[in-house]
Amino acid sequence: MSSPSSSSSPSGLRKGLTSYGDSAFSAFLRTSFIKGAGYSDDALSRPVVGILDTGSGFNPCHGNAAQLVEAVRRGVMLAGGLPITFPTISIHESFAHPTSMYLRNLMAMDTEEMIRAQPMDAVVLIGGCDKTVPAQLMGAASAGVPAVQLVTGPMLTGAHQGQRVGACTDCRRFWASHRAGQINEDEINAIGSQLVASVGTCSVMGTASTMACLGEALGMMVLGSASAPAVTADRIRVAERTGAVAVAMIGRQLTPDKILTPAAFENALRVLLAIGGSTNGLIHLAAIAGRLGIAVDLDAFDRIGRDVPVLLDLKPSGQFYMEDFHKAGGMLALLRELGPLLHLDALTVTGRTLGEELDAASAGFAQEIVRSRTNPIYPGGGIAVLRGNLAPGGAIIKQAAATPRLLEHEGRAVVFENAEDLARRIDEPDLDVMADDVLVLKRIGPVGAPGMPEAGLIPIPRKLARQGVKDMVRISDGRMSGTAAGTVVLHVTPEAAIGGPLDAVRSGDRIRLSVASRTIELLVAPGEIAERLGARRKDDGAPTRGYLKLFLQSVTQADQGCDFDFLRAAEIRESVPRLVTAKRSD
Ligand code: FES
Repeated sequence: MSSPSSSSSPSGLRKGLTSYGDSAFSAFLRTSFIKGAGYSDDALSRPVVGILDTGSGFNPCHGNAAQLVEAVRRGVMLAGGLPITFPTISIHESFAHPTSMYLRNLMAMDTEEMIRAQPMDAVVLIGGCDKTVPAQLMGAASAGVPAVQLVTGPMLTGAHQGQRVGACTDCRRFWASHRAGQINEDEINAIGSQLVASVGTCSVMGTASTMACLGEALGMMVLGSASAPAVTADRIRVAERTGAVAVAMIGRQLTPDKILTPAAFENALRVLLAIGGSTNGLIHLAAIAGRLGIAVDLDAFDRIGRDVPVLLDLKPSGQFYMEDFHKAGGMLALLRELGPLLHLDALTVTGRTLGEELDAASAGFAQEIVRSRTNPIYPGGGIAVLRGNLAPGGAIIKQAAATPRLLEHEGRAVVFENAEDLARRIDEPDLDVMADDVLVLKRIGPVGAPGMPEAGLIPIPRKLARQGVKDMVRISDGRMSGTAAGTVVLHVTPEAAIGGPLDAVRSGDRIRLSVASRTIELLVAPGEIAERLGARRKDDGAPTRGYLKLFLQSVTQADQGCDFDFLRAAEIRESVPRLVTAKRSD
């Protein structure tokens, strides 16, 4: 069987030959080498589907990768293709120093270049943990080969003293109780044995689950595949089907640019809001879109967001876990409910539109996880975009996971100059801090930390935690885990390390947050702010070599997805979301 590609350009193993100055010799040599692995001429004549395996002993979120690879291989072969597995780097949130985000662009480059360098007609991207899916979608978008995303799926939940627990919203909740002296060492260790009950990604609507749902909303995954837990038969069947879909994409030449259109990104932005998704989803969508010459307009996102309710009752905004979402119908149920706000004519990896996929899916049923639009978890604007003299380039707050009374707040700033300063002083007994102060952490942005760590959820100072304080307004140029909750202003742009106004804030200044008016203001005279910034300490000791040098020279700010400037499309052609209503089906 020959490759079904309609193009006259080389396909299968003849694609992208190594340069020896004699293409016939290059093809002969390549075939000879791979025959060393025992392949027949029949097998080698088939269309090739690369399977990107990110299994790693350092990545328990991908602990089922081997079974998924086997199932994808089965799906590819049943559809007449030749599966060939290959690795890239793999990133786990807790095993990446200094932070996983620092390595996302490296993984995206690895993904792009290895897809391009090796002969494959389509590729299945197996990812899962937070940064892996965006890295793979960024790389695939730039590589331009038909690609379908497969996620490893969420972990199961565990139990502590009869109470259901799962990573990582509960990790933070229990740790906060431990810091406050309410849970002793033995109990916190016992909880640590239950929070991650199996391999797979975090069991709440954190960044991994968010990116899995957005993968479906973008049309880059098999519909209904985001939520199947990592260790279930459903997950394995999804993998088999994904392999077959990849083979079918070859004949259609269904490259990522045909799927990742402005309509697809608009769908994803609405889904991000409706699922109560991670704020990190916004950064990753901006990065993926930027690869295709599409910009995410934060102000337009805020405006459409006011009409998109949070429908999904999952932690951290709600109460349930991903395995419950799966049993409730997963993304099929969510997309059906959200359908009138979506572009149902957007193309998906199957070659059918989102609307056609929903029509072909099994019927919905009564359940309590996906709310109706008339009975939402949160009425609208789950993620709000803030502007003001403190964040002229924008900042965001996940108000659906914040304390309502703090959404309109003015308080005295308590400033930490960087992460080290925070670690040194936050628990000092004589720290001058009160419950209605505003905690400010500088220099944890893309350049500052570097890599924009998820340190934006500044811990409540221990002396206040022991008094029962559970939330305070917190502001930084960093990110926050999607599993976290609180009144936390994030992604302040431009960041302090490159001279953003955040760097001018001093302890004792007053800061006003008004989510209703979408503003974040430093109540200091403009001349005084300019004077402070003019006298600011310049960072010295710039790195002279390696990835760190490349990173610091090239990383963009949060509003551009923190991608490297040289990896974004040369020209931005469109902005999303456009302020027009999506095609309505009712
Ligand atoms: Fe991997 Fe949460 S640590 S998904």
